[in-house]
Amino acid sequence: MKPIYLLSVLIILFASSCDNNNGSESISLIPLPNFIEYQSSTFLLENDADIQFSELISESSFENLGQQFVRDHGIQQKAGGDDSVLKMINNTELKPEAYILEINSGGITIEASDYNGFFYGIQTLSQLIDQGEKTAKGLKLPCISIKDEPAFAWRGMHLDVCRHFFEVSTIKKMLDAMAMHKMNTFHWHLTEDQGWRIEIEKYPLLSEISAWRNESVVGHIAQEPIQYDGIKHGGIYTKNEIKDVVAYASKLGITIVPEIEMPGHAVAALMAYPELSCTGKPTPFNDWGVSSDVYCAGNESTFEFLENVLAEVVELFPGEYIHVGGDECPKDRWKECPKCQKRMKDEGLKDEHELQSYFIQRMEKFLNSKGRKLIGWDEILEGGLADNAVVMSWRGEEGGIEAAEQNHYVVMTPNPVCYFDHYQSNNYEPLAIGGLTTMEEIYNWSVIPSGLDAEKHNFVLGAQANLWTEYIPNPEHLEYMAYPRLCALSEKVWTKKENQNFEDFTARMATHYMRLDAKNINYRIPYPEIEPYNPILNANQKIELKNGVESSSIYYTIDGTEPTKNSKKYENPFRIDLSSPIEIKAVTIMPSGRESAVASGVYELVELAEPETPKNLIQGISYNRYNNAYSSAFDIIGNPDTIYTIQKLELPWQEPVASYGAILKAWIEVPEDGIYNFHLHVKDGGLLYINNKLVVNNDGFKYGSAKSGKAALKAGLYPFEIKYFLGRGWTELTLKYQIDNGEIL
Ligand code: ACM
Ligand code: ZN
Repeated sequence: MKPIYLLSVLIILFASSCDNNNGSESISLIPLPNFIEYQSSTFLLENDADIQFSELISESSFENLGQQFVRDHGIQQKAGGDDSVLKMINNTELKPEAYILEINSGGITIEASDYNGFFYGIQTLSQLIDQGEKTAKGLKLPCISIKDEPAFAWRGMHLDVCRHFFEVSTIKKMLDAMAMHKMNTFHWHLTEDQGWRIEIEKYPLLSEISAWRNESVVGHIAQEPIQYDGIKHGGIYTKNEIKDVVAYASKLGITIVPEIEMPGHAVAALMAYPELSCTGKPTPFNDWGVSSDVYCAGNESTFEFLENVLAEVVELFPGEYIHVGGDECPKDRWKECPKCQKRMKDEGLKDEHELQSYFIQRMEKFLNSKGRKLIGWDEILEGGLADNAVVMSWRGEEGGIEAAEQNHYVVMTPNPVCYFDHYQSNNYEPLAIGGLTTMEEIYNWSVIPSGLDAEKHNFVLGAQANLWTEYIPNPEHLEYMAYPRLCALSEKVWTKKENQNFEDFTARMATHYMRLDAKNINYRIPYPEIEPYNPILNANQKIELKNGVESSSIYYTIDGTEPTKNSKKYENPFRIDLSSPIEIKAVTIMPSGRESAVASGVYELVELAEPETPKNLIQGISYNRYNNAYSSAFDIIGNPDTIYTIQKLELPWQEPVASYGAILKAWIEVPEDGIYNFHLHVKDGGLLYINNKLVVNNDGFKYGSAKSGKAALKAGLYPFEIKYFLGRGWTELTLKYQIDNGEIL
């Protein structure tokens, strides 16, 4: 067991007593412990030194925290004896990472059987301490009994440091926050097309050449043509830095799983060692996406290179697993390459998928020979899974189900719910890759896929969030994307499913945001829920503003000015003069003073629109195609190049196609009177018009994501139009609606 004596210094010198006053109802612990029993009393941590507990818990690790405490208060460091207020007891009956935390009149006891168990007991204690009631004599804590253990062994967070490089200090800050959430696995994505980030002594050109690119994409990669910044970007972690991070993580109970990508996503390495590619002349790949240049699977020197790299990697990372990527490896080069084709013939491989499987199996044998296990993205299933490989299910849940059915361990990290590079809401978000992944979706997801047979559930090791950084250029933005979504994921993987409840979680988050503030984390603050357009049928209707965060305040304006903390504070639903349309702007302000994005919306008194009675309707949608490149759907005007009739609101081209625009026209039949909310999901831009009014504006380049908008309609027929354009990539278009905030159809 690793030393834990430092953990005991926080409160070792305090005397104690209990009284009968308890405020346990509002206690916020995240992730929620699996068993909590409150006694009807409190325990007083007496306080003869002037101790600022809130400062203490904001320290980056408990060890630092203890040392800081000793420094600040000139206290002798002692091992906890019988008279200590905090006792740490080794209980060998507890499972790995489990702990028991008792606060009673005798003091505080933490029992565990391993380092992580003690560490997590301390994390929970820290969260109780930061909510303790400060009194003149000391800090009142609830007398409590917590018996806790994780639901899953793999509680992970992935970070791509290749699309954008992040300094060691940023990595450490992320590890601190993971530890506070009892997350124990950091998947460090260290190599990519656009940058190689780990020093390898045998291959110095990886540091000199592969760690750098000459320019990066500006704006969204979907735009045609792609824009670049012309700025050199890069960085590499030295071996010493990596050792330092590994040691730092270990003190936080976190294992690091390094990822060395192969056979695809390897252009950065191929630029330094082009002889490892099929053509010998790989093209620099500074775009986001997937390059055709990959490691040559027919060339023995590829395997020699990768084994030499992995030999140095296993020396740096003591954990059980080494990740070898395996995702998104196009087979174009292999199909054309005489060496790859010879390899297939010699090895009796029937296609290029089997060649990829051969590649990964060779790597697995090497890693196994070093006493390590191979983990890879779910493409490693194609062409046959290596004997002991663990599969990371990212293209949905199917890969995870398939691997578990073959008795392989799996980590669930399915797109979209575990993809933290997606938007967090439909409006006011900074540029992201596309898609929508909200806290609620994460919370309501099940780590164990519903399609997996019960007897295979034990093959699910756990789950992790993936943070790909194409659209995440700096640490502040990284934190914005990671939190608070990681808080929700931490509860999915720590707390047993029967103990999870989203409303309860949301209530506990109100306090938890202050912990993120204490750590100076730039988490996303929920903005007040205002739709861009709000048709109102009754002039007496009150306007309600909410953001779901009880500890925050909402400030608003109705005169078009930007709301600040000097604006009107929202207390209760209010009436506004609706004799003309009015814009409300509102902002959430946290107790720390940090502010959300400003949300704004127009409120308009309307009557339900009257339907029309068109004649001579025919079945179908008129599809008007414009063969031009657009950057905005508003620009699609004039005569189309072609007109078709289609029968469903499905665009006929799902494969990558050239840029184009389209206008879809039809009449829609509205089934009943009501206020309709339409959700238009597109890649790239789309505008929805109903009754000749713009209802949804989802313009701009992106990967598919939705925006919504409202219309007040009587039952009947209305003119309907969608303007749509595609930049680069593939077509996506779906339309859903709900009536009066009901179920989405
Ligand atoms: C992945 O998101 N390409 C694993
Ligand atoms: Zn080849």
